[in-house]
Amino acid sequence: MPWSKDDIRVEVRRRRERCDVADFQRAGTRIASFCEILLGAHRSRVVLCYVSHKGEAPTHDIIRSCLARGQKVCVPWVDPATKMMAASELRNFYTELSPGFSGILEPRDTCRRPVEPKDIDILLVPALAFDMKGRRIGHGEGYFDRYLAICEPTQIKIGLALSWQIFEELPHESHDVAMDLIVTEQGVIPVRKGLFES
Ligand SMILES: Nc1ncnc2c1ncn2[C@@H]1O[C@H](COP(=O)(O)OP(=O)(O)O)[C@@H](O)[C@H]1O
Ligand SMILES: [Mg+2]
Repeated sequence: MPWSKDDIRVEVRRRRERCDVADFQRAGTRIASFCEILLGAHRSRVVLCYVSHKGEAPTHDIIRSCLARGQKVCVPWVDPATKMMAASELRNFYTELSPGFSGILEPRDTCRRPVEPKDIDILLVPALAFDMKGRRIGHGEGYFDRYLAICEPTQIKIGLALSWQIFEELPHESHDVAMDLIVTEQGVIPVRKGLFES
């Protein structure tokens, strides 16, 4: 019988528990350095980056590097009442974030600077699991699904994950939006050809 989304979620959590802290940190450093190469080469482009939370491919260093080189970087904030996600420009990683939905860091209400989805060039997207076609499974809330659904194909979607979060093929639905590229500690998995050409 094929795996269900919940089977995958259970399996990924099991793999995560088996990953020791030092290996996780080493992997995170490598993922961040691959992202540095990608984003640093496109520093005029606006980035939306999730603020990593427990067990997700770490992004705090990636966000700080964008800010340090003057690259415009946005982070998500969510409204649990409407289940919608929005992007807000971040200017100071240390002073502007506080725990929001599910304890995830997001811009506090006095520091929200909304950015339209169409004004974002590159999205760094989290997941519990990705497959080799760039499809993703999240925690089941659908925040990123709904956000990705209003993005254009020209906006570059990059999934970040540890290699044990990658599966050959995941269960998916017709409205799922695929990543163009996945970055793991083992390197870059290109899904869509011709990226960064325009
Ligand atoms: N493009 C979309 N538009 C509206 N609702 C969506 C969209 N994508 C997903 N959803 C809804 O969000 C919820 C969670 O989606 P699901 O794909 O199961 O979670 P996840 O992506 O976190 O694994 C579901 O109720 C699903 O119907
Ligand atoms: Mg989904």
